[in-house]
Amino acid sequence: MSREKVFVTRELASSALERLDGICELEVWDEFLPPDYDYILRRARGASGLLCLLTDTIDARLMDAAPGLKVISNMAVGYDNIDVAAATARGIPVGNTPGVLTETTADFAFALLMATARRIPEAQQYIRDHKWRTWHPTVLSGQDIFGATLGIVGFGRIGKAMAKRARGFDMKLLVNTSGPDESVLEAGAEPVTLDELLRRSDYVSLHVPLTDRTTHLIGARELSLMKASAILLNTARGGVVDGQALYRALSEGSILAAGLDVTDPEPISLDDPLLTLDNCLIVPHIASASVATRAKMAEMAADNVIAGLRGDPLPTCVNPQVYDKN
Ligand code: DGY
Repeated sequence: MSREKVFVTRELASSALERLDGICELEVWDEFLPPDYDYILRRARGASGLLCLLTDTIDARLMDAAPGLKVISNMAVGYDNIDVAAATARGIPVGNTPGVLTETTADFAFALLMATARRIPEAQQYIRDHKWRTWHPTVLSGQDIFGATLGIVGFGRIGKAMAKRARGFDMKLLVNTSGPDESVLEAGAEPVTLDELLRRSDYVSLHVPLTDRTTHLIGARELSLMKASAILLNTARGGVVDGQALYRALSEGSILAAGLDVTDPEPISLDDPLLTLDNCLIVPHIASASVATRAKMAEMAADNVIAGLRGDPLPTCVNPQVYDKN
């Protein structure tokens, strides 16, 4: 009996591919850059499973071209690259990888906070530019972290993990969330509106998914509410921040600095003016990039594929409504 086909859109940790090998006929895209949309569509056409990344657009047209698709498994906790409503309408379960990347991502969000507050990338550049001639009382002075106020926008797993780290630095915590106030109070934080959070925080860290509601959640108006000494951190999705408004705020000094793990688009265009600013630290979407965490994400995505092929509920499914219909 021929085995079901699974298309994997990138080379993953071998521990994940080994789980799939033997269970299905596996095709893995092994180039560094992602396959283009048309290629994924063609490979999905005859496939029962698709294991994709956040770089891949999986929309209704692609699903219609792949009537045999039994599972779409994204190797990411975010899934804004997939039209989940279209998948649900077609009865296709969509999997993601929550939990395993929480601590690694929060570590990195806190690293961005510290690097921007204490101007670490600028300091390294200062030496490389041969400017270090003496110890100086004011050169490269940054902002204190200990005892400062951190505003957390979105209080899911990663927002909560960020709060845990901030408590170790005796930071005051403000949280804006659509979730219950109880979890905020339990974390020793104060629930506030977004505007109040922006006005009072020394650091604002974004931890919301990208949806219609959160697209450009932080725009010119929101940036104008922030303190001139405040720092914006984004490890969520680039589209949550209006990049042009952020450039104006940073270049005019209406906020002090930004640390961005994510941009819109990705990769950032090399002529994006944000890249010209010393007070904007930008890294290439690596918050979850530890060797161990990326392997766990890949394994979890593989397990979702295996469950989908077997017709079992996915261990981590973003549209469990697909199972209600049966
Ligand atoms: C995710 O899983 O959504 C992250 O952005 C990957 O780092």
